Amino acid sequence: MNKIAVVGSGYVGLVAAACFAELGYSVTCVDNDLAKLECLRRGEIPIHEKFLPELVARHSGTRLQFSDSLAEAVRSSTVIFIAVGTPSKDNGEADLSYVESVAREIARSINGYKVIIEKSTVPVYTSEWIRRVMLLTTRTECEFDVVSNPEFLREGTAVTDFLYPDRIVVGVNSERAAAVLRDIYSPLTTGAYYMSAQRVPEPDRATIPPQLILTSAKSAELIKHASNAFLAMKISFINAVASICEEVGADIEQVARGIGSDSRIGPQFLRAGIGYGGSCFPKDVSAFRAVSRQCGYDFKLLEDVMQINEEQRRRFLQKIRTALWTLKGKKIGVLGLAFKGGTDDIRESPAIALVQGLVSEGVQITAYDPAAMKRARELFNGSIHFAENAYAVAAGADALLILTDWDEFASLDLKHLHELLEYPIILDGRNLYTPEEMERHGFMYISIGRKVLPLKQLADVPAQ
Ligand code: UDX
Ligand code: UDX
Repeated sequence: MNKIAVVGSGYVGLVAAACFAELGYSVTCVDNDLAKLECLRRGEIPIHEKFLPELVARHSGTRLQFSDSLAEAVRSSTVIFIAVGTPSKDNGEADLSYVESVAREIARSINGYKVIIEKSTVPVYTSEWIRRVMLLTTRTECEFDVVSNPEFLREGTAVTDFLYPDRIVVGVNSERAAAVLRDIYSPLTTGAYYMSAQRVPEPDRATIPPQLILTSAKSAELIKHASNAFLAMKISFINAVASICEEVGADIEQVARGIGSDSRIGPQFLRAGIGYGGSCFPKDVSAFRAVSRQCGYDFKLLEDVMQINEEQRRRFLQKIRTALWTLKGKKIGVLGLAFKGGTDDIRESPAIALVQGLVSEGVQITAYDPAAMKRARELFNGSIHFAENAYAVAAGADALLILTDWDEFASLDLKHLHELLEYPIILDGRNLYTPEEMERHGFMYISIGRKVLPLKQLADVPAQ
């Protein structure tokens, strides 16, 4: 049975380590952040992921160990996953310095055949750079293979996405490494894991067993970047169509339903809103654009994907101005700070960007988010207020913004909200409600890609 090392205990590394332990492997999760390791050893999970606390509690101390010694983990494992951060540089390229430093550390500790697997999202050619750095670093003739095994984990459902993947992509350049990867994923590809009584619950539309796609390392690296870029493109596409709907008086939710019911298109990732964020799409689209240009192809389409995404935020800010006239000194309630519902992550969050824009215009913000407030407090450092629920946010506010698609924001007591708000104005950046039901409750309701119903008392005032 292969012993596994996972380097990096972040959103991807920790999930991968816990899930490999769940599949029966002995796993060492390595990190150079000692505080984080202490936290994990105490069983405290620093990220908001369903089932992750249960899996870590089930395997920590037995199959799952946490360590700050990469050298030791390399020596005692046959398979080493690299899952350290690959943030964006100012010029949009991926910063691979952490990947390189880990690769060098691995090379110095090799004591026999190893399979080094890049799990973080990296640009094409990275596996070749890792191989080159390791060959330059190792003094002894030692055998190793470098493999690309990109993750397709969505935050909030990362454990389920890992154990019930649509597909497992493995990019290898040797049969020996291919055999190791096939073996590692066999509990999933043979369906054996899904027979276990204590398995993580199966999601809707699960592909059981998942297919394992064996390809070259370069193709696997491209599959990851192209998948994320395509999903981001779908979102920018529907947001552009939503802007057209606003011009002609069509309804984007009905248009999206009509488009998505085509089995070649599919309904997912066609939800119009204030745009995509998170630690992946913005970074990966920008990195894909950069690496394509470096490889000699000018992938201009990705420029438009990014531009439309930025435009969504500007358009929404304009809607707030149109609804409220002057912004300085106004009190605005904000529901949602995370980049999407179900997570505590505020990295590249459109909600955070909008709140920052409003604060810079002198708006007094009170915000509530079910999971992301701890991270947001550190970021805003006292420049906005926080409340413990949606109604406390609405009390006395001149308008209420819905910026993150948390389920609880889609079933609020609208009558109570109407009583609490200073002005009955709701701007919904995630289309959680319909214009008709909001009109029935007496709100001026402004959303994405749908008509704005004027308040009865403003019926004779021309809309801008
Ligand atoms: C990372 C990549 O950023 C992303 O592109 C990929 O899709 C998934 O993996 P994430 O897991 O969110 O995303 O990274 P992060 O949350 O930054 O965690 C990285 C971890 O690696 C941190 O805990 C950090 O302390 C650790 N690390 C980083 C090391 O242990 N050693 C290093 O040299 C650098
Ligand atoms: C994404 C990819 O889905 C995943 O496969 C990859 O491994 C990492 O990046 P994640 O960023 O966690 O996952 O979240 P995702 O659910 O994809 O949403 C990304 C952003 O797009 C969020 O800001 C979300 O609000 C937005 N989004 C998503 C839309 O605006 N409309 C949609 O229809 C779907």
